[in-house]
Amino acid sequence: MIVGIPKEIKNNESRVGMTPAGVFELVKNNHKVYVQSDAGEGSGFFNQDYQQAGAIILDTIGQVYAMSEMIVKVKEPIEEEYDLIQKGQILFTYFHFASSEVLTKAMIRQKAICIAYETVEDEEGTLPLLTPMSEVAGRMAIQQGAKYLEKPVKGRGVLLGGVPGVAPGKVLVLGAGVVGIQAAKMAAGLGAHVTILDINMKRLRYVNDVMPPHVVTEFSNEFNIRRLIKTHDLIIGGVLLKGAKAPNLITRDMLKEMRPGTVIVDVAVDQGGCVETTKPTTHEDPIYIIDDVVHYSVANMPGAVPYTSTMALTNVTLPYALKLANLGWEAACAKDASLNKGLNIVEGKVVYQEIIEAFGWEEVVA
Ligand SMILES: NC(=O)c1ccc[n+]([C@@H]2O[C@H](COP(=O)([O-])OP(=O)(O)OC[C@H]3O[C@@H](n4cnc5c(N)ncnc54)[C@H](O)[C@@H]3O)[C@@H](O)[C@H]2O)c1
Repeated sequence: MIVGIPKEIKNNESRVGMTPAGVFELVKNNHKVYVQSDAGEGSGFFNQDYQQAGAIILDTIGQVYAMSEMIVKVKEPIEEEYDLIQKGQILFTYFHFASSEVLTKAMIRQKAICIAYETVEDEEGTLPLLTPMSEVAGRMAIQQGAKYLEKPVKGRGVLLGGVPGVAPGKVLVLGAGVVGIQAAKMAAGLGAHVTILDINMKRLRYVNDVMPPHVVTEFSNEFNIRRLIKTHDLIIGGVLLKGAKAPNLITRDMLKEMRPGTVIVDVAVDQGGCVETTKPTTHEDPIYIIDDVVHYSVANMPGAVPYTSTMALTNVTLPYALKLANLGWEAACAKDASLNKGLNIVEGKVVYQEIIEAFGWEEVVA
């Protein structure tokens, strides 16, 4: 198969759909790989790295789309890319169709085969191509939180690890899923005292089994949250209700109960956030303050660490990309039930029911 790796052109996106290691694997399997010039630069991979792995560098994005049977990328195509997409071309990337009717209609029109990373689902019902980004965001949440606890950026002036003779900072983690566990682990590693909440007892039992004694679990309910926010320095929001808006576990009135300079990192911002006062921010302007509480709610946290994020993403996407290239999309999806769940639009037809429901369509609209 001929595989194309375009440069991401969405604002502030430095990740790339495939590393030189991925190119090497595809070429080893007798596929041809075209990489757009400088596509990997933002993630620290240069044209010569791709060439050494066996790729052919093309100058323009137009050439990559025109000459490839399958496009592997990171973000959904943006408007400038729509007309480059060809009938029957496989697009393997994040799409998040339910959040954009314009994108959905464009992909229907272009009659491409759209396989969405975010809906690939394994036997246990987890989303293997989303997990690495939650791991990155969970770990980053503590790094960012520690930074904004510093006084010059309006934090409480607390060092999370404390020092001999001074107690460590306290971190409250809402949700013991992928984000929550990674955040708890990083905070514990810094020496902070960590409390992690969930409504799922299985998750709490797991955390209790694997974490050191300075990570404690409590059941998530309003009573406990109201009590804990008064004494914790850093609060991490990592709650998810699949397919729904995150619940507002911290309401506006609760901010007054927190000490000035408390920091909230609401990782769940992409699902509306689990704090009532959360609104999406950007890496250029990541924080805002309400009632003396610092809010950090960047919607694409992994974008700040493109080297790590690209590696983490492509580690999990490559086996699927390889399968698609080796077998073609029909046979690959027929053989692999997880990949089959990634099929969202096939040659102009929406095959993922949730998309039709999200727009209230009765049938496919082009
Ligand atoms: N901002 C970013 O850049 C970024 C990056 C990656 C992920 N995310 C988001 O982070 C959020 C968490 O993702 P995840 O992969 O950890 O999800 P996950 O499904 O692994 O974990 C969510 C956890 O929340 C728990 N939960 C549900 N209701 C709760 C409640 N009332 N109180 C406490 N816990 C509750 C669930 O039981 C589950 O354990 C998602 O919204 C995801 O989209 C954001």
